[in-house]
Amino acid sequence: MISSHIDRVLISRERISRRVAELASQITRDFSPPRVAADSRITIVPVMTGAMVFCSDLVRQLPLRLRISTLRVSSYPGAATSSQGAKLVEAQLEGIVDSHLLLVDDILDSGNTLRLLIPMLQSYKPASVRTCVLLRKKRERPAEIDVDYYGFDIPDEFVVGYGLDYDDFYRNLPDIVSLKPDVVSPKDA
Ligand code: IMP
Ligand code: MG
Repeated sequence: MISSHIDRVLISRERISRRVAELASQITRDFSPPRVAADSRITIVPVMTGAMVFCSDLVRQLPLRLRISTLRVSSYPGAATSSQGAKLVEAQLEGIVDSHLLLVDDILDSGNTLRLLIPMLQSYKPASVRTCVLLRKKRERPAEIDVDYYGFDIPDEFVVGYGLDYDDFYRNLPDIVSLKPDVVSPKDA
């Protein structure tokens, strides 16, 4: 059972759920008239696969007429626990022209992912681009890029759960947790 791989719970599912509800009401306000025109196009752009769980909870609390267009970025190939530079793997962006975009990711760490994606999205001439992450990592060297909405600030440690992975595992854990050192391979620990 993967529960035996957990070292400690940093953010419980109850706290996540309360915070997602708060973010959803803030986003709903900002994407509704008079802040955006009543007939605006709205597109939510989750960065796969990490944002999948967060975004699926979030969109179900947005009572807006919206579309979802996914993007896939690879920055932590395999068992790496530090960013290896973001690379766009797949995009599905037909129809974002003139749309108000909300780019959703699991975590802001080095900022490489958002630095890659924001200009790329802007090149499609959307009406606006806003960004939302569940977590912001407090690094010694800050990301030099910020987001419009975030759920929680966390210390500079490797976490999994609620969509975040280690070697593509643990995304299905309902809480944000750290892993026991012996399940993270020694070369990355
Ligand atoms: P950035 O490009 O360095 O800002 O990192 C963003 C991406 O790195 C996220 O979308 C995650 O996929 C991954 N990432 C960063 N920190 C962690 C972590 O602590 N656990 C799991 N994935 C992480
Ligand atoms: Mg990711």
